[in-house]
Amino acid sequence: MAYKLIFLGSPGAGKGTIAQKLAEHLQIPHISTGDIFRSNIKNRTPLGLQVESITSSGALVPDELTIALVQDRLQQHDASTGYILDGFPRTIPQAVALDNLASIDIAINFVVPQEVVIARLSGRLTCSGCGRGYHKIDFPPKTPNVCDICGNALITRKDDTMEAIQYRLTVYEKETAPLIQYYQEKHILANLNSNQNLENVFMELLQTLQQVNK
Ligand code: AP5
Repeated sequence: MAYKLIFLGSPGAGKGTIAQKLAEHLQIPHISTGDIFRSNIKNRTPLGLQVESITSSGALVPDELTIALVQDRLQQHDASTGYILDGFPRTIPQAVALDNLASIDIAINFVVPQEVVIARLSGRLTCSGCGRGYHKIDFPPKTPNVCDICGNALITRKDDTMEAIQYRLTVYEKETAPLIQYYQEKHILANLNSNQNLENVFMELLQTLQQVNK
């Protein structure tokens, strides 16, 4: 089934981990603005150089830049019938812009307490090659510091320092949390309990999607 989905929720809520799993399950693209920025930074593109210091600090990239990036990505062939937008929109202007670009089926709000988020982010490891996420304690790789999938080294993201985590949470409350009400008022918001093991989060998500009229 080809849904057009938004994954909302605070940093570390588990959006990226579940988006990857659902994208494989539904065979639709996982469009993560954070991943797109990180890939540009890694490849030293003009966009990467422009956003590197912004993303490392935990601040948001300007709306105009982010909206143009997503607009371009949604026009690509693989996104013609469905996709998961992970980490976009993140501000009201981005949500308004998206309204003009797409008809979203459902916005999934990943709900998890802040202390859990901090524990998740401070233990996160990310593959420097494919971007897959691990956790030092909860989801360690089979071989220490090596990605199970592509064999590249695991790194700690620059914005996973305690200072940047705290800042990202502040930015989330101010800029992104208002989107919960935005999508509630459009009657397309579904809350998902992300404070449970991955299998249960995924199962609850599939049940939620079954209720969407397609
Ligand atoms: P982005 O990459 O989107 O970062 P984020 O929103 O801070 O989200 P995270 O990747 O930190 O969290 P997540 O919810 O995906 O959690 P994950 O699944 O990894 O954005 C990075 C930066 O790019 C932004 O700060 C900004 O600068 C810029 N940017 C991006 N989009 C933008 C936009 N639209 N506008 C402007 N700027 C933008 O899980 C976290 C950890 O928890 C992992 O270790 C994982 O293994 C573990 N975990 C996950 N689920 C579970 C579970 N159920 N149980 C136990 N552990 C779990």
